[in-house]
Amino acid sequence: MNSIINDIEIIKTKTSKINEVDFDNLKFGSVFSDHMLECNFKDGKWQAPKVLPYQPIVLDPSAKIFHYGQSIFEGMKAYKDVDENVWLFRPLDNFKRLNISAKRLAIPELPENYFMDGLKALLEVDQEWIPKKDGSSLYIRPFVFASGNGFHASPADEYKFIICTAPSGAYFAGEVRVLIEEKYSRSANGGVGFAKAGGNYAGQFYPTQLAIDKGYQQVIWTDDNTHEYIEEAGAMNIFIRINDTLITGPTSDRILDGITRKSIIELAKKEGINVEVRKITVSEVVEAAKNGSLKEMFGAGTAAVISPIAGFGYKDADYELPKLDETYASFLKKRITDIQTNKAEDIFGWRYKV
Ligand SMILES: Cc1ncc(COP(=O)(O)O)c(C=O)c1O
Repeated sequence: MNSIINDIEIIKTKTSKINEVDFDNLKFGSVFSDHMLECNFKDGKWQAPKVLPYQPIVLDPSAKIFHYGQSIFEGMKAYKDVDENVWLFRPLDNFKRLNISAKRLAIPELPENYFMDGLKALLEVDQEWIPKKDGSSLYIRPFVFASGNGFHASPADEYKFIICTAPSGAYFAGEVRVLIEEKYSRSANGGVGFAKAGGNYAGQFYPTQLAIDKGYQQVIWTDDNTHEYIEEAGAMNIFIRINDTLITGPTSDRILDGITRKSIIELAKKEGINVEVRKITVSEVVEAAKNGSLKEMFGAGTAAVISPIAGFGYKDADYELPKLDETYASFLKKRITDIQTNKAEDIFGWRYKV
């Protein structure tokens, strides 16, 4: 596909905020870089993307995003190595997934060069915002929403594609205890669970708050039909280690095809770990916890990479996971982050130089 990078108009901010940011004490996703990419869909096509100063968006109250929730997003990271090279991790997979989400939400799909060249142009302008400190990265949030107007429940005729970035420290969740969900669902067969649709997350907040009120930090989502199968951990895919086998459920209508998940599967297999991609029941996990064969559970996603689970609750009982000296979680997290940050050879071709 043709590069459009030289045709992207760039309007730089006159008042950079970079000197106000403490790069040694960054939280996750709470300060935003000087610029954003904006690209509008109107008159039946995506118009040329522009890099603009980070700024509020003005919308009509009848914009369809507010009423019908036509909105999708992605999450990715840029890393700077010791030689100041800038790297992304499997960015084309985020682009493809954005278009999978777009199709499901009846949003016009984006051309690859608008996404990739737009992202590169933005990273070039805001390269000083990419943190260098170990564990830190520039979190990247591409999103698309219905900006067209009208109180009729039908797809909008105008959309905005925006990319914003946020220099971020390591995502640290602390000791995570999770509640296996028996009533609520984040997704259903034929639904939009496989898409990164904004509404999926809104639907998670209430059941997650109920779990927090009971003293847990996250919900383990189970299938909507029987609540017998383990599906995802909060907004992450989930891995379960029973003895020395690492198990994760197959992707489906209901489970997001996570880039971290598929990287872990490939990497673990390459490292000689026995990996099974198959359905796993709650009763199998409870049984394994009781007989001592349950060794680890962890969430996998871009923000935290891998987030170990310390214990889980199910039907008024609590189960603790063992505290192991050496875990698959820490081993695989180090292997992946070393690849992402150009500290280790990338035999998979995942790293992408900007
Ligand atoms: C519901 C859900 N599952 C899984 C993931 C993990 O996906 P990835 O590894 O591509 O970040 C995410 C985060 O993007 C998510 O929102």
